[in-house]
Amino acid sequence: MSSKTPYQVLCVCLGNICRSPTAEAVLRHLCDAENLNVMIDSAGTSNYHPGKAPDSRSQQHAKKRGYDLSALRARQLQTQDFKKFDLILAMDYENLDNIQHLMHRAQQEFGAAALRAEVALMSQHDCNFPEQEVPDPYYGGSEGFEHVLDQCESSSRAWVEIIKMKLEAKV
Ligand code: 4NP
Repeated sequence: MSSKTPYQVLCVCLGNICRSPTAEAVLRHLCDAENLNVMIDSAGTSNYHPGKAPDSRSQQHAKKRGYDLSALRARQLQTQDFKKFDLILAMDYENLDNIQHLMHRAQQEFGAAALRAEVALMSQHDCNFPEQEVPDPYYGGSEGFEHVLDQCESSSRAWVEIIKMKLEAKV
């Protein structure tokens, strides 16, 4: 990878309207603050809400912390994503399982050598939420949306340190 090629991260949840757009905005904010050459996107394992903006509750809670989710639009994870992205982050264990199943399909479709994605749990390096799921807030109250933000901020800080090391190793 040349130093001009961005490191590409994809945040993934079920619907791509609550957790993964929040993770996308938080991780982007932290990477931008450190001037890291990183490109971030998000997707859902389901196709429940294609083209839809993030849930209004996610948008409102994020806005209070300075994150603007309004321009983001939902899309479904696809096999091509395993060729494009360096790192795919699952919000929970069910997402992780579904991502890994789709990765097997991508291997059959393109061959293992064509894939670049490392698949991990959002909280993998987070000492505050060690290997914990980011709980789905969709059917709950406002505290669930605040918790998603707390966890995304904490886990993104941990990933920024890992991504910095990955970028330094590739210069
Ligand atoms: P997300 O939350 O996976 O964090 O985007 C959900 C959004 C929608 C649904 C479930 C979870 N749904 O069932 O429509």
